[in-house]
Amino acid sequence: MEKKAIIEVRDLVKTYGEGEGLMYALNHVSIDVYEHDFLVILGGSGSGKSTLLNMIGAIDRVDSGSIKVLGNDIVKYNDKDLTLYRRNTIGFVYQFFNLLNDITVMQNVIIAPGSRDKERAKELIKRVGLEGKEEKFPRQLSGGQQQRVAIARALNKNSEILLCDEPTGALDDASGKQVLQLLEEIHNEGKTIVLVTHTREIASMANRIITMKNGQVVSVEENDHIIKASEVVW
Ligand SMILES: Nc1ncnc2c1ncn2[C@@H]1O[C@H](COP(=O)(O)OP(=O)(O)O)[C@@H](O)[C@H]1O
Ligand SMILES: [Mg+2]
Repeated sequence: MEKKAIIEVRDLVKTYGEGEGLMYALNHVSIDVYEHDFLVILGGSGSGKSTLLNMIGAIDRVDSGSIKVLGNDIVKYNDKDLTLYRRNTIGFVYQFFNLLNDITVMQNVIIAPGSRDKERAKELIKRVGLEGKEEKFPRQLSGGQQQRVAIARALNKNSEILLCDEPTGALDDASGKQVLQLLEEIHNEGKTIVLVTHTREIASMANRIITMKNGQVVSVEENDHIIKASEVVW
């Protein structure tokens, strides 16, 4: 069966600094993400992984290149298009959760415009294993629990694509594994996942692995030996 590319990144360039200090965070990067991929982008610190994910998530502007998502080049979007894109098309999960600490779990999950349905949010909080924690504040939860709140918030958008930047990077091994298992389940339910990590073992649960170095893609592999999240050890 022909695989459908839902994200097509072409010739993407992002630089920081100028003159002598100019550096290429992304140096002509091209990648495809296929529908229902569990794609891992693997690379050492500073290789450009977060920059690439932030460009796809429209968190920051590119210098040049194109990023077609579901057929539309988001690089050409105006501010209004970008707001709608961030709200509806992409879910984002960060290493340090990015929860608002002065509001409850429930309020965090329904934070986005268009995500205000509390019944639905309650179901999602239950879905990520936090039933009964709706009125807790983030500081009353463990890191792993906070990350699961962040995942519930992302799922509440009902977007087709979930971008995860080192989602286990701030967690102990046991909580990290629970988060990976949750992402595996979400993938099995039909979502396309792009997960960035510097941990090679985590890549073994992906169906495709893209490796980056110095702002460039150095390899694209199909993984014929997909390992269950419960079996990943790092
Ligand atoms: N806001 C920024 N200003 C200057 N340099 C940056 C900025 N963001 C990233 N960089 C640089 O771009 C390169 C890639 O960074 P990043 O995408 O964060 O890598 P990774 O996520 O793989 O660790 C690094 O050399 C980093 O220092
Ligand atoms: Mg990073």
